Amino acid sequence: MEPQHDFHKSAKAISRMLRMIFGFFLVIASLLIYLMVDPGLTAFKAAPEVVVEPAAADAVAEEDWDKVEDGIHVRTGFVAEEGYMTVVNNCTNCHSARLVTQNRMSRESWEATIRWMQQTQNLWDLGNNEEIILNYLATNYAPQKKGRRQNLENIEWYVLEN
Ligand code: HEC
Repeated sequence: MEPQHDFHKSAKAISRMLRMIFGFFLVIASLLIYLMVDPGLTAFKAAPEVVVEPAAADAVAEEDWDKVEDGIHVRTGFVAEEGYMTVVNNCTNCHSARLVTQNRMSRESWEATIRWMQQTQNLWDLGNNEEIILNYLATNYAPQKKGRRQNLENIEWYVLEN
């Protein structure tokens, strides 16, 4: 074997070794840099599962989901009259049921409110349910006729003593 050839070979071997060492350090360096950026290795952990529950559900246990007490649907506060479940199912998805129950309107105003939500708030087409919902709202959430509350009766007044 010629010495020149020999030299050539060992030079190649050394260069290969150097490249391997360099590559090795490159890998270590990238790992260290990654650890600086993400010390918790969060990218390798499964994302925590986010469970979103409707706010109204917090206070009501699963078995009480559809409980009606004293004519009131406990979970939402709706009057449990004909059609109320249709209202619960269509009117509590975007906002609290209270936004509905705190209002009292004529049938026309309820309809206008629904149209407004459909035109501006992405409320879906209610189809046949619209009639049920409007009947329910116009019956149970109509404007109150009395301008002021009735006089209190059967009160046991107590005497202030000094
Ligand atoms: C697609 C979402 C969505 C659905 C479903 C929905 N609404 Fe609404 N509604 C809204 C938004 C948004 C507002 C405005 C809320 C606010 O101002 O904070 C609103 C407001 C209201 C208001 C208050 C209006 C006012 O003038 O203050 C009433 C009453 C109401 N909704 C009734 C209903 C009824 C009844 C239903 C069932 C037919 C219903 N909503 C279903 C989105 C929706």
